[in-house]
Amino acid sequence: MLEEKLSLEGKKIVITGGGTGLGLEMTTALARAGADLVIASRRQGPIDEAAQIVRDLGRKAVAVSTDVTDTAQVNALMERALEEFGVVDVLINNAGIVRGQGATSIWEITDEDWRLGIDTNMSSAFYCSRAIAKHMVERGQGKIINVSSGFGFRGGRDNYMYCVGKGGIVQLTRALTTSLSRYGITSTCIVPGFLPTEGTDESRLTLPRGEFIPIGRVGHPHELGAVAVFLASSGSDYMNGEVFSIDGGGLAGGFAPTGYAPEIPLEV
Ligand SMILES: NC(=O)c1ccc[n+]([C@@H]2O[C@H](COP(=O)([O-])OP(=O)(O)OC[C@H]3O[C@@H](n4cnc5c(N)ncnc54)[C@H](OP(=O)(O)O)[C@@H]3O)[C@@H](O)[C@H]2O)c1
Repeated sequence: MLEEKLSLEGKKIVITGGGTGLGLEMTTALARAGADLVIASRRQGPIDEAAQIVRDLGRKAVAVSTDVTDTAQVNALMERALEEFGVVDVLINNAGIVRGQGATSIWEITDEDWRLGIDTNMSSAFYCSRAIAKHMVERGQGKIINVSSGFGFRGGRDNYMYCVGKGGIVQLTRALTTSLSRYGITSTCIVPGFLPTEGTDESRLTLPRGEFIPIGRVGHPHELGAVAVFLASSGSDYMNGEVFSIDGGGLAGGFAPTGYAPEIPLEV
């Protein structure tokens, strides 16, 4: 019974950014749990490799090169998913800009930088959800899983588009929940803390080390796999509009890696 609830046997899942980092870990875990996947991102190489991993696990996979900031490409992605599999049970909005984020003063950020950051980190989840919502409504079922960040709950020094976009993802989850639940569609949000990936390696943010994290260590990307499987499975059917942190307790104590160290010792 429990195994059945957590099984994704035959489920059809679309995941964005599924060829690298956290997305690749989720893709692999979802396939191990029995799902067939449509994997999307801009670069064909990583998603082709991810699709091969899924096939080697005995599941079906299609890699569709897609820029999730382009609504025409997003619509084509969902059409392709429906052509391939007939249905989409779960959408995971994971793509985001991690590389090169932050460390830019507000006056140096151009309109183009702002739009690209907000489009990738936030609007893409709206575009993808909009493109598949009608199909899910017609079936009377579906799950949308968004990926935010601890920076969606707190500010970060010189970190605008990421914080604002990821905060918007939390609110998008709530708006989807209050709007689409009546059609049988649930929406949830994963909030990763710090789980080093190639993306975070190339980020310019001041990232938290173990001392900011109550559990005493950073996370491993593979730890996200089980969370994604659970939220995609029928075991989580009554979870809706909720935010699930996987951050070793980083948000629990209100710790914030602000990028500042005190210059004046506090008097006690
Ligand atoms: N790792 C962490 O500690 C952490 C913490 C909090 C939140 N997150 C969130 O987790 C998600 C995955 O991050 P990650 O650490 O795994 O970094 P990552 O490896 O750099 O993953 C980002 C993914 O998004 C895709 N992507 C970026 N722009 C895109 C676009 N315009 N169209 C389609 N795909 C696009 C990238 O593929 P292409 O470049 O090929 O397009 C890549 O696969 C992100 O949303 C990130 O904000 C990560």
